Amino acid sequence: PRTLALILAAGSGSRAGGRWPKQFATVAGKPMLLHAVELLGRHPAIDGVVVVAAPERMAQVRALIGDAALVEGGATRRESVAAGLAALPEDAERVLVHDAARPFVPYAVIDRVVAALDDHDGATPVLAVADTLVRGHDSMLGDVVPRAGLHRVQTPQGFRLAALRAAHAAWPEGDEATDDTQMVRRLGGSVALVQGDPMLEKVTYPEDFAAAESRVQWESR
Ligand code: C5P
Repeated sequence: PRTLALILAAGSGSRAGGRWPKQFATVAGKPMLLHAVELLGRHPAIDGVVVVAAPERMAQVRALIGDAALVEGGATRRESVAAGLAALPEDAERVLVHDAARPFVPYAVIDRVVAALDDHDGATPVLAVADTLVRGHDSMLGDVVPRAGLHRVQTPQGFRLAALRAAHAAWPEGDEATDDTQMVRRLGGSVALVQGDPMLEKVTYPEDFAAAESRVQWESR
């Protein structure tokens, strides 16, 4: 099936500090966004890459990504995905939606996501929760949240395009979703959990850059 990758880079990245949005900061020798574009673009199951960027960054991103397709994003992640979906080629059947804030995309994760789409509307990579989880109230420890069955959700999240388009069309305006699997689930679509990877950890805060660098060094040792 014809499969496209949508790479989201239209966020402000403000939590990472710095003068640039984080997706342009250099990690392991390259701007973060470029890692994701190259890794997804080279995977044999992916037929093309579409990058979603903020309107004021279009020239900068164009210079970075070579001949990958580029579209303007929106004010929220959901709107950026919708803009990307509208720009996919007519014959696209599947899409992998990926955060540029997760620069290192293991091939094996892409393999698992793509394979799960043979049987499901969506597939999302997850990691089991290792830490104890608690609620906090006014900086006092509240109830423990049992972690059995809980997962941390990563990207790339894969979808049959018809299911993701339907989920976006049906989503109530004003409601915000932090990812696409929850949108497909709300319409009753089936979303498979597949094994994620610590390499996919999101780079959000300034200290995450050093952690990302050391994961790459560990991987290539
Ligand atoms: O802010 P957060 O890290 O949750 O954003 C996740 C991804 O969504 C990032 O790659 C960010 O660039 C993207 N995004 C977007 N358009 C927005 C907000 C976030 O493409 N309006």
